[in-house]
Amino acid sequence: MLFNNQLPITKLVDKKILRRIFRTIGRYLNKNTSTGTTVLNYRSPEELRKKIDLSIDSNGKDNDWLIKILHIYLKYSVRTTHRNFNNQLFSAFNFPSFIGEIISTLTNTTMATYEAAPLATLMEKELIDKVNTLVGFKTKDNAADGIMVPGGSYANLMALMCARYQAAPETKEQGIGNIPLKAFVSDQAHYSFKKMINVLGIGTNALVEIPSDKNGQMNTTLLENAIKESISKGERPFFVGATAGTTVFGAFDPFGEIASIAKKYKLWMHVDGAWGGFILLYNNSLKKKLLNGIELADSFSWDAHKMMGVPLYASFFLCKHEGLMLKSNSVQGGNYLFHSTENTTFDTGPKSLQCGRHVDALKVWLAWKFYGDKGYSDMIDDLYAKARYLKKLILKNSWFELIADPQYFNVCFRIKHPKIDMNLNDLNLEIRNRLLRSGSYFTNYAISQNGSVFFRFIVNASSTKEDYKQFLNKLLNETGEYIKEKYLPDKNAEIVS
Ligand SMILES: Cc1ncc(COP(=O)(O)O)c(C=O)c1O
Repeated sequence: MLFNNQLPITKLVDKKILRRIFRTIGRYLNKNTSTGTTVLNYRSPEELRKKIDLSIDSNGKDNDWLIKILHIYLKYSVRTTHRNFNNQLFSAFNFPSFIGEIISTLTNTTMATYEAAPLATLMEKELIDKVNTLVGFKTKDNAADGIMVPGGSYANLMALMCARYQAAPETKEQGIGNIPLKAFVSDQAHYSFKKMINVLGIGTNALVEIPSDKNGQMNTTLLENAIKESISKGERPFFVGATAGTTVFGAFDPFGEIASIAKKYKLWMHVDGAWGGFILLYNNSLKKKLLNGIELADSFSWDAHKMMGVPLYASFFLCKHEGLMLKSNSVQGGNYLFHSTENTTFDTGPKSLQCGRHVDALKVWLAWKFYGDKGYSDMIDDLYAKARYLKKLILKNSWFELIADPQYFNVCFRIKHPKIDMNLNDLNLEIRNRLLRSGSYFTNYAISQNGSVFFRFIVNASSTKEDYKQFLNKLLNETGEYIKEKYLPDKNAEIVS
């Protein structure tokens, strides 16, 4: 049988097409700041299907087709690097990490073993040590441990795994059986805790949601009461998940108080810092105030892919207790992969839940090294200035109501009518969706415990003062239109005639 080295699939890409692709990328990025570029080109699924033939055909395509599709993809993708993207907990763009992601894909290896990813393994170790030091887990007497994982939800799974192992190591082999384990988080905690407690076979009923106060912080009196009640019912409380930067309000739980309760009742304490962990890089006394007590936790997680401007995924799971991740996660059967060599101790695979693991360390390391601690601390300063400015604009205008005082980069507010009593939920939802469909602003909304719909605006590192003013003006103009259509239809009819 002949070897056919001329198959299109083995042909290397030519330089000409690479240049065309990079020119397209450059133009795309430049357009983020030019007037007239919208955050998205909203289309319904039916409309979008008409823009591109999604079926996979038996015959392949050529380079010109590739470029054409790239343009279509960019045109109909949400510009999350646009200054008016305020929807998710990530935004902005930085070049070193973008290049890092491309190089990770180019070199396409797996982090399972040192031999397959030598430099990336060392970079990850350096990053883990750095973040562990910032959290306070790594000290001269304690090495601490950690691993990069695909997302903050996944990091919460790792925390529950470690906690379960710590509380009942026999569950690793025997499963959960009838052990009545109980976990506690606040009612503002991320929904991934529910998903992950399901994955672990403990079940969502075993997750108790402790009410939070008006600022979104866990009520620790109610936490202790709930733990006591659980013990009195013969259950085994094993885990408390606190949050540094809640998803909706950006609230920071009282970590010191939670740590005392966790210690008293021998619970594993995890701090989910997926969103607020970025404050670790802040060279300001506010850091100490917001994160006070995190060093007393057993584990901590942080998504560098949120505010660091690093592409998804780039998440850290940190464990104070060295060796525990390995005990809880390692199994027999990987001897085709994990060999005994002089570098075995550097293999991260055995303590991971994954086999193949994407190189996330490079993009974070490159960006952090490039901008330094100071670069990121200055960025946080700037983001706070932006959050304060937006808050000021909101408070100044009687058409807006601030829902919570921002502790972080979440500005939660709603539109109201200063005089008329109207359905504010319908109003806010409709205006948010109108903005989305127009493509001008992409901002999320949330629903409070009492059912009120409000905007959750996440401050974006690339936005300007003018963007915020224009955003609020746009809200007011759209509100005016909406009121005219809904409440003054006759007047509207007159205008038309
Ligand atoms: C507090 C918190 N924890 C966990 C997560 C989940 O992170 P990921 O989307 O990386 O899985 C989020 C996501 O927004 C979050 O806000």
